[in-house]
Amino acid sequence: MCAQDLKKVYLLGEEKIEVLKDVTLSIPKGKFIALCGPSGSGKTTLLNIIGGIDRPTSGKIFVDDQDLTVQDENSLSDFRCNNVGFVFQAYNLVSTLTVAENIAFPMEWKQKPFEEIEKRVDELLDMVGLQHRANHFAAQLSGGEQQRVAFARALANNPELILADEPTGNLDPKNGQKIIQVLQLLKSQGKTIIVSTHDEQISGLADQILFLDDGKLASANE
Ligand SMILES: Nc1ncnc2c1ncn2[C@@H]1O[C@H](COP(=O)(O)OP(=O)(O)OP(=O)(O)O)[C@@H](O)[C@H]1O
Ligand SMILES: [Mg+2]
Repeated sequence: MCAQDLKKVYLLGEEKIEVLKDVTLSIPKGKFIALCGPSGSGKTTLLNIIGGIDRPTSGKIFVDDQDLTVQDENSLSDFRCNNVGFVFQAYNLVSTLTVAENIAFPMEWKQKPFEEIEKRVDELLDMVGLQHRANHFAAQLSGGEQQRVAFARALANNPELILADEPTGNLDPKNGQKIIQVLQLLKSQGKTIIVSTHDEQISGLADQILFLDDGKLASANE
């Protein structure tokens, strides 16, 4: 993916809040990127724009040669469903659906055949080590378990680009470790991964670390 001169400005009355200031970056396929920076520096905003959840005020964003800034809401939804796996900081599971139903959801949205969905849900439950919780409601799981379900759901349609917003931010070290194993596996599968994080173990896995500071990309080291 690549981004050119991304700006994000919020207007609060007369006040202009510049959240992203001319962010330009290019991330080759298959790279694992850690996005670091203090609270409020714009990490979530940038991930949301890369994933087509939010739009920049100006600038361009290309993912897989698609210019996200010219697409209408319907094609952006399609783009997200087919190309991006998004893991939110607050998990965002549907609490009244079971674990298996949450994971199946993106595939049902694409109207995939039932047998295919069932097989993929099994594979993903296995991958995140939650086979035994398949039929429990999401609300009955611990934070660490919910985060693993969120990863499984993000991977349901086998996206090439995975975006994760502080995936270990709310977890204790033991649960964080399980998420790190999932990230390592995805890295070994050649996925493009962008993770916003304060976790040094995650940035240690990264091919490149990007620092956001007050909406500017401060430095990047290989
Ligand atoms: N809808 C909004 N309206 C006004 N300002 C906003 C809005 N959303 C975000 N901001 C501001 O944009 C800035 C960047 O927010 P963002 O959530 O991207 O930061 P962050 O780097 O992810 O922080 P954290 O590490 O705390 O998650 C913050 O100052 C925030 O207050
Ligand atoms: Mg954030």
